[in-house]
Amino acid sequence: MIPLLDLKKQYQNIKKEIDEAIQSVLDSGFFILGDNVKHFESEVASFIGAKFGIGVASGTDALELSLRALGIGEGDEVITTPFTFIATAEVISLLGATPVFCDINLEDYNIDTEKLGTKITKKTKAIIPVHLYGQTCNMDKICRISKEFNLKIIEDCAQAIGAEYGSRRLGAYGDCGCYSFFPTKNLGAYGDAGMVVTDSEDIAYNLRLLRAHGSSKKYMHSIIGRNSRLDELQAAILRVKLKHLADWNKTRIRYAGFYTEDFKKQGLEEKLVLPRQVEGSLHIYHLYCVRSRERDRLKEFLQTKGVCTAIHYPLGLHLQEAYKNLGYKKGDFPNSELATSEIIALPLYPEMSREQVEYVVKCVSSFYK
Ligand SMILES: Cc1ncc(COP(=O)(O)O)c(C=O)c1O
Repeated sequence: MIPLLDLKKQYQNIKKEIDEAIQSVLDSGFFILGDNVKHFESEVASFIGAKFGIGVASGTDALELSLRALGIGEGDEVITTPFTFIATAEVISLLGATPVFCDINLEDYNIDTEKLGTKITKKTKAIIPVHLYGQTCNMDKICRISKEFNLKIIEDCAQAIGAEYGSRRLGAYGDCGCYSFFPTKNLGAYGDAGMVVTDSEDIAYNLRLLRAHGSSKKYMHSIIGRNSRLDELQAAILRVKLKHLADWNKTRIRYAGFYTEDFKKQGLEEKLVLPRQVEGSLHIYHLYCVRSRERDRLKEFLQTKGVCTAIHYPLGLHLQEAYKNLGYKKGDFPNSELATSEIIALPLYPEMSREQVEYVVKCVSSFYK
C-alpha cells in the first residue's frame, strides 16, 4: 500500500530529536507562550523573510485573526477563490464580512488575476490569495491591484511554506502571511497549530493581543480577544521539523520531477494534465495533483492497486450548502468546477522511494492501456 503521505515514517527518521524536544518541554513545566514559541516565531519569520511571527492555534485562526487585526468586519467584502479549503472563506463569514469568489485559472489552480478586477466594489477591503498545493499565485499582479484599489492582502500559505515567488518566500508579500501546521502539511505539528507573519509592528502587536484575550499584561484586557495561543509542545516539535523543511521541500520537488518525467515518457501527457512549474516561482508540491477526465474511475483503479489518492476539493465553496445564502449557482465558476471534477492528488512525501513513484506511474499507465 502506498499512502498519500507517511507521518509514521517521518517520525521514525527524526524520533530522537522529537523525543528530546518533547521531553525538554515536559521537564521545564512550562507549557504556554514560553521560549519555544518565542524562538519558533522568530525562526519562521526569518525563514520567510518577514519581521514578525505570531504563533496561533491553527491556520484557520491565523486567517481569522489577521482579518480582525486589519480591521475587516461587518459589511466588508473580501475576495478569494471557491477552489480552496473552506477555512479560507469561513473566517470572512465569521467576522460578518462577505466572501466574494473569483474563479481560478487552470494553469496553476490559483485566483485568476485577469478576473480579479471585475470583483472589486466599494465594499472590497481585502484579497486572500491561496497558494494552492504549494504553487504560487501571481503576486506581482495581486500586489499591483491591491495598491491601485487600496486593498489589504492576506496570503493563505497553509499549503505553501517555503514556496518562492521571484526572490522572496510566500507570506512576505501580503500584509499578513498565514500558515497552517496541521499534521499533514509540509511543516506539520502533532496537533493543530498556525502562524501569521507580518512586517508591520502594529499588526503584530494587535495579533498578539487578539490571540491572548486582548491582554498584554496579566488580567488587563485592552480589546476583546480570544484564546488562540500556539502551545509550547507544538512549538518545540515544529522547531525540530523546521530544520528539515528545506530538505523535505527539495525532495518533494525532486519526486514531483520524477512523476512528471515518467508520465511524459509513458506518453500520458495526452491523458493527464500535469502540474506546471510557473516561471520565476518555486512550487513546493504540498500536493502533486493531476487532472484526468476519468478521475473517479482512475481513483478506484489505483485503490485496487494499493495506491492511495485524494481529491482536494470535490465541491467548490460556491456550491456548498453552507454558502447557499450567497446565491451562487452551478456554472458561475467554470474553471473551479472543472477542477473539482477532474483533480486528483497522487502520493508524494519526502520519505517515499523512487520505486514507489515508478509503481504509481506504472499503475496509472496500465489504467490507460
Ligand atoms: C488552503 C488552506 N487554508 C486554510 C487551512 C486551515 O488550516 P488549519 O487546518 O490549520 O486550521 C488549510 C488547512 O487545513 C488549508 O489547506
